[in-house]
Amino acid sequence: MSVQIVYYSRHGSTRDIAHSIAKKMDVETTSDIKELKEISGDVLIVGSAIYGEVPHVEIMHLLKDSGKRLEDKQVALFVVCLAKENKKIAGEETGGPIYLRKMEKALGKVPMASKVFGGRLITNKMGKQERKRIEAFYRKHGMPLVDVDTVSEREVDEFVQEIKVKMAFRGLI
Ligand SMILES: Cc1cc2nc3c(=O)[nH]c(=O)nc-3n(C[C@H](O)[C@H](O)[C@H](O)COP(=O)(O)O)c2cc1C
Repeated sequence: MSVQIVYYSRHGSTRDIAHSIAKKMDVETTSDIKELKEISGDVLIVGSAIYGEVPHVEIMHLLKDSGKRLEDKQVALFVVCLAKENKKIAGEETGGPIYLRKMEKALGKVPMASKVFGGRLITNKMGKQERKRIEAFYRKHGMPLVDVDTVSEREVDEFVQEIKVKMAFRGLI
């Protein structure tokens, strides 16, 4: 039973999480969505960094699956973000579980596993435009503008465990 991971990352934290999942699951194919050539796995793990409250457009396109490539596959989903918890801002629901729901909706079927991962933000690596956007995000969420690294191996372990249990249940390992 083969497993493939596809992710979108701009600054590397989602890429690091994808590779850590791959290592812990002995996954051979881990692809940046920008370099994705084919969908080969029986099980597909799809992850996206969150920018401007949404998963990346190419990840959403993959999940909407107009080419029916995911039809008979088991799919697990994850997002990487800083606003991990559900919250309401100006009457609008936002936060990790909402981002994940957007991916689930695009997929159109129940994922075998899903997870919200904490991300990483190093502001001195950013250009002026991006800094402005992240400042607006912090203001909106009432968070102090500080560099953070909340990427956690424990969260990776939990996700890997959940996928393995589901695969075992479905006779996939
Ligand atoms: C311009 C900008 C916008 C962001 N927007 C959000 C957001 O809407 N919600 C959120 O939870 N995190 C947001 N983040 C935080 C990123 O999701 C976080 O830094 C993540 O780890 C980035 O993943 P990457 O390193 O794989 O690119 C934003 C970060 C930047 C720089």
